[in-house]
Amino acid sequence: MAQCGWHTVAFPCLTRAIVSQLDQPTAGGQNRRMGWNILVTRRIPIEGIDLLRRSSANVRWHDEETPLPRGELLSQVRSCDGVIITGGDRIDAEFLDAASKLKVVSCIAVGYDNVDLTEASRRRVTVTNTPDVLTDACADLTWALILGVARRVVEGDRLTRSGEWQGWAPTQLRGVDVAGKTLGIVGAGRIGVAVAKRGTGFSMRLLYFARRAKPEMEAFGARLVTFDEILRESDLLCVHVPLTPDTRHLFGELEFRKMKPTAFFINMARGAVVDEAALVRALRERWIAGAGLDVYEHEPQISPELLQMPNTLLLPHLGSATVETRRRMSVLAAENLLAVLEGRLCPNIVNPF
Ligand code: GLV
Repeated sequence: MAQCGWHTVAFPCLTRAIVSQLDQPTAGGQNRRMGWNILVTRRIPIEGIDLLRRSSANVRWHDEETPLPRGELLSQVRSCDGVIITGGDRIDAEFLDAASKLKVVSCIAVGYDNVDLTEASRRRVTVTNTPDVLTDACADLTWALILGVARRVVEGDRLTRSGEWQGWAPTQLRGVDVAGKTLGIVGAGRIGVAVAKRGTGFSMRLLYFARRAKPEMEAFGARLVTFDEILRESDLLCVHVPLTPDTRHLFGELEFRKMKPTAFFINMARGAVVDEAALVRALRERWIAGAGLDVYEHEPQISPELLQMPNTLLLPHLGSATVETRRRMSVLAAENLLAVLEGRLCPNIVNPF
């Protein structure tokens, strides 16, 4: 690979970590235009950056795990044609007003509830996401939560490390069987279907709730039921719906009260699909048996009570976090962005206008 020229950008007020790649040779392509200005707001796997490097773009990269402070983000995006953003970046009217040249917002995520699509479309800014490439990783981690809460994996790990373990005991840390139980899946998108597929290996009764029947779900023997039924019948209930005005606080006190006291609640979708205060109450008062959570209503803040509860398994939003998946997401986010800028077909546009 050609030697890349990375330079610290000479703009004022930049964090140390923002670097730029300038004037890379163009690989050809009819619609290519020299000098697109691209901002990547967070450290992402290098493969996506490499792809951008090979285009003719000028790339500024905030190569840090932590987000850019809002003021700096707004100032950095000012001259940009395209931006790759993460779930922590809020793309609203203020952001879009600050970025008058912007043509594309490329989300390195499948979810894009942090982007105001109406405001973006009004300004003819295309928004893209990275579906498919993360489906298996998210479904796998859903199962890690299911097995983790049902079989008390983390409690077991803590006991083993504590030095207090006295050896095998018949009543010690008993969880519940997963095999043969009823798995309820709310949302029948790609991830919900992949979770159902895995459920067949555990001989489970599969139920799902969606707006309409999904042949992909039925193929795994899952049965479409009402929301009420899925709440009342599930032993393990997992959530895989996007966050929209319709799904915000889909789960509140009323819903948790309908669930079995032996049921476990798993959220791999978005925190605000759940009224977190209601979930805390449901867990504290044992309306349900436990919860496995990867997402929180006010990330990265988590209700302090959740942190204290033994019947919760809490992950820091790791759904797609594997080396292979994040690599694919990085490449796809870069491909999406370049496709839009270069006027090529992009299959992952979420706001066609
Ligand atoms: C992560 O939460 C994603 O939406 O990809």
